[in-house]
Amino acid sequence: MVLFGATGDLARRKLLPGLFRLALAGLMPRAYRVVGTAPASEALTDEEFRERARGAVAEFCSAKPVGEEWEAFERALSFGAADPKDTRPLLDAVRAAERDLGGSPRRLHHLAVPPAAFASVVEELGRTGLANGARVIVEKPFGTDLASARALNDTLHTVFDEERVFRIDHFLGKESVDNILALRFANGLFEPVWNRDHINHVQIDVPEAIGIEGRASFFEQTGTFRDMVVTHLFQVLGFVAMEPPADLGAKALRDEKNKVFQAMRPLDPRRAVRGQYDGYRAEPGVDPRSGTETFIALRAEIDNWRWSGVPFYLRSGKSLAHRRQVVTLHFKEPPLRMFPGAQPPADSCANAIVVDFDDPGWIAARFLVKEPGPSMRLGPARMTFRYADSVRRRHGLEGYERLILDAMLGDQALFTRSDGIERLWEVSAPLLESPGDVLPYPPGSWGPDAVRDLIAPHRWYLPDDIGDSGEGATP
Ligand code: BG6
Repeated sequence: MVLFGATGDLARRKLLPGLFRLALAGLMPRAYRVVGTAPASEALTDEEFRERARGAVAEFCSAKPVGEEWEAFERALSFGAADPKDTRPLLDAVRAAERDLGGSPRRLHHLAVPPAAFASVVEELGRTGLANGARVIVEKPFGTDLASARALNDTLHTVFDEERVFRIDHFLGKESVDNILALRFANGLFEPVWNRDHINHVQIDVPEAIGIEGRASFFEQTGTFRDMVVTHLFQVLGFVAMEPPADLGAKALRDEKNKVFQAMRPLDPRRAVRGQYDGYRAEPGVDPRSGTETFIALRAEIDNWRWSGVPFYLRSGKSLAHRRQVVTLHFKEPPLRMFPGAQPPADSCANAIVVDFDDPGWIAARFLVKEPGPSMRLGPARMTFRYADSVRRRHGLEGYERLILDAMLGDQALFTRSDGIERLWEVSAPLLESPGDVLPYPPGSWGPDAVRDLIAPHRWYLPDDIGDSGEGATP
């Protein structure tokens, strides 16, 4: 495996710890090598790279970098710098690693580099022959608009066939996102009501409490819409909204997801609220007049037989009140109001299925029940399945771990396909062309006030449910 961007934040937080966890779980190949690479200005010796990896695992991995297992993992790491003008150190490191392994090992390149660097790395892989027989994992965001995504796909396809391209979106590797498929398609209970006849609206809500965490240059070029919505939230929407695939193979699953994207209406900028937290412009590296959004909420519509007329409200932002990752399906009210004067409290969120897909995740059915007493008073109740309490998580993998494993095995089912990505940029075009102003919001809030008007007459499930949730709201 060749890890481009090996000195970067993603490698430190997710990739190196994830690879070590895969090694501990016995899920790495019998023999493997990981060659880290970065531009010559950030060159490391093998020993320095191993030391960095040790630091990353100590800080971000649930297992500590000790013992025989760590030593074996560490021995598999080496480093070779690469610049467009001089790729020799990388080629030497790859050759040495392959010599050690013997035979003809399969290559997997992981491009954990900023979007602006993708094309030149891909060309380098083609030119040097490193692409031969290799698979490539490409990080998000894939392009910044339709034209750049198409150009990137063209560049990729000059070197790699689509079958060897793994566009990663780590939300699709989350256990609880995959579980949406099990919930819907392995049970006869939910799917019959999972449609416009019964569902009033859907919310996909991913507020984050963190700010930009020093990623000013990435964030200034990207913003929350590209960083979170065109990628993670739309992919979750695809799982929530798709028709049952014929099987869970890559073709059937991605065909069905892409049909949802085909049926999405182009986004209407009047149905979107962009926000920026107070203080963002003073962050180091941020333009003092920046118009980049750190928050976005919008209404998406899917024009097909299952979803026509059912709005999907999506929201994500930095420096908000809480971190949560929640899909809420709000059901229609029953036609017969036979409980006069017995309405539940206005802020109770009943009549909904809630899927919290943050690790470890839970699913709740929320409904109304009669409160004990002489009169027919209604109160909210819930039934909750919690991953943490209900399922042995010994085999649980984090999003990245699961997806890197799938890429090693050649299974593309949970990776995005070029046509799907291009369609998502196409539906995003109106908003990218006329984004409108960013509205300020105080850090620790739920975004600009206008976000409430966007969803009216409904309400956001969060924050209404935060106070009494008891379901792991993390401050
Ligand atoms: C990343 C985004 O892809 O996902 C970050 O670039 C975001 O801005 C992160 O914070 C959220 O991922 P997770 O694993 O915390 O759910």
